[in-house]
Formats: sequence, structure tokens, C-alpha cells
Amino acid sequence: MVPQFLLIVLSAASGIAYAAPADPCSAATAATWVSSEVAHACELNVPFNKTRSMSVVDSTIKALQYYSLENWFLHSPNPLIPHDVNVRALLENVQKTTATVGYKSDWDFNMAVSITDAFNKEADGHTLYSADCTEAFSWNLPFAIATLADSPFDKTAFPTFLVNYDFPNQGRSGLEAFFESIGVHVRPLDGSRVLKINGVDASTYLVDLATRSSIFDGLVGAYETVNPRYMRLMSRYSADTVAGLYTQEVGRFGQRAFYPGANSVTVTLQTKSEGIKTVTIPWAATFVGSGNDTASFISQTCLPAVDSAARKRRTLNRRMDATPMNLRRKGVVAPEAQGPVRHAASAAGLAAPGNIVQPNLKSFGHFVTLDIYQLAEHPHVGVVYFEQFEPSDGTGANDYFTGISDTLFSGLNALKAAGVTKIIVDNSGNRGGFIFAGAIALWSLWPQDLYPGFPAVFRDSDLIRRESDVAAASGLGESEYSFFFYRDLNYVLLQNNSQFMDPPVPQVVNGVKDSYSKQFLDDFGNSSAAVTNFTTPPFQGEDYVFVANSICASTCSIFSSYLFQKHGVRSAVFGGTPSSTVSQFDGGVKGSEVTDFDSIIFELDLAGLDDDPAAPQPFPVAAELTLNFRNAIPYIDKQDGILEYVFEPDTKKYQFTHDQFNQPQKIWEFVAEEFFGH
Ligand SMILES: *[C@@H]1O[C@H](CO)[C@@H](O)[C@H](O)[C@H]1NC(C)=O
Ligand SMILES: *[C@@H]1O[C@H](CO)[C@@H](O)[C@H](O)[C@H]1NC(C)=O
Ligand SMILES: *[C@@H]1O[C@H](CO)[C@@H](O)[C@H](O)[C@H]1NC(C)=O
Ligand SMILES: *[C@@H]1O[C@H](CO)[C@@H](O)[C@H](O)[C@H]1NC(C)=O
Ligand SMILES: *[C@@H]1O[C@H](CO)[C@@H](O)[C@H](O)[C@H]1NC(C)=O
Repeated sequence: MVPQFLLIVLSAASGIAYAAPADPCSAATAATWVSSEVAHACELNVPFNKTRSMSVVDSTIKALQYYSLENWFLHSPNPLIPHDVNVRALLENVQKTTATVGYKSDWDFNMAVSITDAFNKEADGHTLYSADCTEAFSWNLPFAIATLADSPFDKTAFPTFLVNYDFPNQGRSGLEAFFESIGVHVRPLDGSRVLKINGVDASTYLVDLATRSSIFDGLVGAYETVNPRYMRLMSRYSADTVAGLYTQEVGRFGQRAFYPGANSVTVTLQTKSEGIKTVTIPWAATFVGSGNDTASFISQTCLPAVDSAARKRRTLNRRMDATPMNLRRKGVVAPEAQGPVRHAASAAGLAAPGNIVQPNLKSFGHFVTLDIYQLAEHPHVGVVYFEQFEPSDGTGANDYFTGISDTLFSGLNALKAAGVTKIIVDNSGNRGGFIFAGAIALWSLWPQDLYPGFPAVFRDSDLIRRESDVAAASGLGESEYSFFFYRDLNYVLLQNNSQFMDPPVPQVVNGVKDSYSKQFLDDFGNSSAAVTNFTTPPFQGEDYVFVANSICASTCSIFSSYLFQKHGVRSAVFGGTPSSTVSQFDGGVKGSEVTDFDSIIFELDLAGLDDDPAAPQPFPVAAELTLNFRNAIPYIDKQDGILEYVFEPDTKKYQFTHDQFNQPQKIWEFVAEEFFGH
């Protein structure tokens, strides 16, 4: 069968090529939407630069000493959470190629080191390299896929074709006009069952895409087991936009931050009224970088804007930030779409009633990323939706902490006064955020617990040990390696660096000699009274149930793991691969902190160790490198060593159905009935 759309698409593409200016980046940036071919030609036009690339790869290798999971990930002790990655060897191979034959283009180099297929293979969500140059376009299809069943109890579910033009708060403006202009009319196909993708059975294709999660398909790992990676491909409800608005995420099948590896996708559909149809649909791209030709694209997007004076200013700003260093620590995973895409979507700001996802329930409190409701059909059940643990709308950290605490206190008390005795905690899609915000939430629910969180360790090298000695001597508290920010396992403040980083604690991990700090706890004060007005738990462990889609990482995972491990909180997990029977309620990285390359450089400057031969140097390109910085130590299943390897299964597993996948309110009423009855 000749796929529909294909002929039209080819002629449209050649029409664009014919009219295009000679410079590929001028063509790619001249219109809001262009074909992915045109956009990718711009990426490929940036030449490989050996000097710059050698310096990038050298510094990424030197930064590995901060990466707390490096040797753990050589081989996983838990077959349910597989890792067999030697990131150092992969990077050393990239280094060898860079030094010898080189790469075809800057894009090819970035893909190799980038989120490398080296770093990407870690799939831990925290550990990522991305050059601004390779994330300068947002790549989009006019449809998304959700895996849906007729009943939440069905054993299997089926990939469904969803036209995404009208998804609320996803910034689809101009996309339909673009596809219509090139003769691609998808609206009549909405709701079709997807039978095949690129000639392969659709479920098999999608599970394989999630399993490989290859940067060459425009995907990054970010979640450790296949279920959350699969869910990230899927369209799903969330409130994860900049201003905490409810949205239906496009999902990574239909929206990617990296070139998707092909210019079109062919799907065979069981349509509602036209029988079986095969159509080929091209990818569209929109530019989110700066520059309007190759030279300006390189100077404005690919190269760092910061000269040394600007870097010093940034360092100064960091020192003068009103929030103390020990409260700024984060555990967060990168969002789906690039900042400009999310900001544009949120500027359009669609709240109820035009928004089908938005619950229509009595609110008992809303603060940036937190929503509290009482259910209508189960009025003895309340809902607390933790959409994230950090604000993206410019709210300052201290205001955020106070707001979360106050909203929880007033909201939960008001729910109790209204007769609520049970609570649903929805953590679907929560990517984490400030560790302190997670701690405030934990302490609000369990104010009598001595410490809200997990013990942790930093990785310790000779260079890091010296950084910690300088931090101890200065006593200024500008460095995360200041011993006085932490407590021992009896929750007594550390007195000196010998209780912390110096000397390092030797450890053999997967047969490799390594070293870490002693185990410590973050210091959030010695009583919950400083962060919450609750003095007794507002509800008991059995009164809570999580609603989850497995996408819960980092600070979310620490928060949720703590409720599960310490207080036996149960979970209802929705979605996952079409035939999976068990999922984690928190399927993301569980390492307790992420650091970024700028912070590593800042800490080295601070300690006067920036010229040390072991120290990474600032990148000569605009790029982000984030690394999992601390390992958390679990309370259960300690034999596997770190929290990362504790598989935390759902209590019950459900499918998303056609009539509730985009309506959290229906999901919550269903879960209330299942777990708490009438
Ligand atoms: C390659 O990068 C180096 C270091 O940033 C720079 O000095 C040089 O001009 C670049 N070469 C080309 C051909 O752009
Ligand atoms: C590109 O932008 C520069 C200013 O940044 C402007 O002078 C120039 O005319 C633009 N070129 C095109 C082709 O739009
Ligand atoms: C560090 O503090 C602990 C606890 O007060 C003390 O026992 C130990 O002797 C101190 N170590 C050094 C080297 O000062
Ligand atoms: C708790 O901390 C405060 C100061 O932050 C201190 O005054 C008090 O003695 C501490 N109490 C205990 C029991 O450690
Ligand atoms: C506790 O309540 C008081 C009075 O309403 C308020 O001023 C204070 O900020 C609250 N403390 C916390 C930690 O929320």
C-alpha cells in the first residue's frame, strides 16, 4: 500500500529546499515551523572543531570523580534495575576518536560525548551532557500516543493515536497551520488504534524505543526501568508547566528536544470510520536557540556567552543568593521540553473551564506546584497533588518553602474539618526539585520523625578531599563540602571534617577501589517546629495512597520512598508498557542530589583549586553537564547497598482508559473507591 501523505510531503520538502537560502541555518530559522530535514541540515552545518572538542571531553572525564554512581553502574546488583555501563571507558573512546579521526560534524561529536551515548546509557536521569547546539530546535509530530484500555483492570492496553493540536498548555500554536499547509490532515484520524509503527507491531516498536532510549532517536534515558521510560514516550496528564497549570503532556513520542533520527514516521491505523489506513507523517521543527545563519548560530547558541568577567559576576551572584547554600540543594530531572517551549506554552495560560485536564473540585489550597482538593463522590477522601518540588515561575526559594509549609498546614487542617479521613497523594510526573521542599513536605506529614529523609554519602577523591579541607578551614558555608551543614546518623551536628570527608572512607564497588564520605544526614534543624506548625501527624500511614504513573524521580523519589519505607504508604500505579504487571511507584533516579558543571567549577574556584591538574576546566562551548552527586542509603533491602537499587513495587496496577487518561479527577475518584470504598 502506498502510504498517504508521502507524495505531498516530498514535494513540499523539495519546494522548501528549492526556495531555501544557501545557508542551512538561515533556512532553518526563517519560519516558526520548518521540516525536520531543514532544521537538521543546520545542525549538521556546524563544523567539528578538534581543539574545542578535546577540551570538552577532557573536562567531562575529569568531572567523573564527582559522579557518585560511576562504579555502581558498572554492574547492577538488582536484575530488576539493570545497569552495565562503563561510562569512563565510553568517554575515553570518544576522546580517542576526537584526537585521531575526529567526527563528521560538531553534532556528531556532541551526540557521541553528549548525553553521549555514554552518559545516556546511564539512564539515571541526573547524569546528562547536552550542548546547547544540539537542543536548539524542538521537534514535533502533530499526534501523540497514549496506551489505553477499555477498563482499568484489563491485562493489556493499546497504543492510541491522539491529535495533539488542542492539548492545553502545550504551546501548539501554528503547528496545525503548518501541517495543513503541507497537506497533512490528521484530525480525522484522532482516536484510531495504532497497529504498526514503521512496519513493526506498535507495542513492540514502542517498548523497544523505550528500552533502547537512544539519543540517536532523540531520546534520553532519564528513568531507570522500562515502565517510566515508556510512560515518558506517552501522552499523560500532568501539572508540570511553568506556572503549575494542568496539561496533557505530548510525551516524547511526539515531542523531542534532540533530532529524532528520521524525518518522518509511518503508522498503520485502525481508524474509527475508514478501516485500516497507513500514513506517513513528517516531523516539524521550531527553533528555540539564537542566531539567523550558521555563523551567528555558532556564536550565539553554540559558544558560551560568558567571558571571564561575566563568570566572576555569576560567581558573586551565587554567593549573594539570599537562600543559604545548604537549602539550595536539588534533586531534579530535566523537563521534557526546552525552557522556551514551556515558557511560551505557559504564557498562553489555560486554566479551567477550557481545560479538560483541570479538576472541577473544591480547592483546599493551591501554591505554585501544590494542589489540595476534596473529592466530590468520595467526600471523606482528600487529594494532595505534589506536581513538583521546585517552582519554575520565578518564585524565590524561601517564599516557596514557606508557601508549601503554610498551604499544607491550612489545607490538611481544613480537609479534616470538612470530614476528610483519607488522602490520595498524586505524584504523577513529579521530577523532583529542592531537597528542602521535600523535607518540609515529609516533616509536615510526620512532624515527630527525627529526620525527614535518607542518609547519604558524597564521592570523595583526593581533589574533593582538599576542597572539603578548604571549606572546613574557611567556615564560610559557601561550599557544599562544609561539614557543619550535616549531621551524623544520631542526628548530632558534625564537629569537624574528620567526621565527614577527610579521611575518605575506602570502598570497593563492583571490584573497583573507590572512596566516599562517611554517611551523613542533611541538617534541617533539630525539630520540625522550624518548618511546620503540625506537631502530630495529621493522618496515619494507612490513610494515604499514592496515585502514580512511575514518573517520580529524585526529590520526589526520596519523598515517596520515605513514605513507603517508613510509613507503609500504598500505591496505585497507572500505565506502563502494554502488558507489564508490576511497576515502581517511583521509577526515577533515587540518588539524593544532582550537581551541575557550573557548581563544580564554582566550588573549585572557591577553594583556589581551579588550576589543579585534576580539576575540570570551564567548557569552551555552551553546554550543561549534570551528575548524580550523592548516593542515598535505604532503610529496607540494604543488601543492595544504595537506594538506587531498591525496587519499590506498586500495591495495585491499573491501565489508563479512554475516558479517564486526561482527567485526573476521574482517576482519583476511581482510586478512592478501590482503596477506601464509600
Ligand atoms: C576551534 O576552537 C578553538 C578554541 O575554542 C578556536 O580558537 C578556533 O578558532 C576554532 N576553530 C575554528 C576553525 O573555528
Ligand atoms: C540576522 O540578524 C541580524 C541582527 O542580529 C540582522 O542584522 C540580519 O539582517 C539578520 N539576517 C537575516 C537573514 O534575517
Ligand atoms: C572531631 O569531632 C569528634 C566529635 O566531637 C571528636 O570525637 C574527634 O576527636 C574530632 N576529631 C578531630 C580530628 O578533631
Ligand atoms: C536544637 O537547636 C537549637 C539551635 O538551633 C539549640 O539551641 C538546641 O539546644 C538544640 N536542641 C537539641 C535537643 O539539640
Ligand atoms: C506557624 O503559625 C504562625 C502563626 O500563624 C506563623 O506565623 C508561622 O510562620 C507558622 N510557622 C511555620 C513554620 O509555618
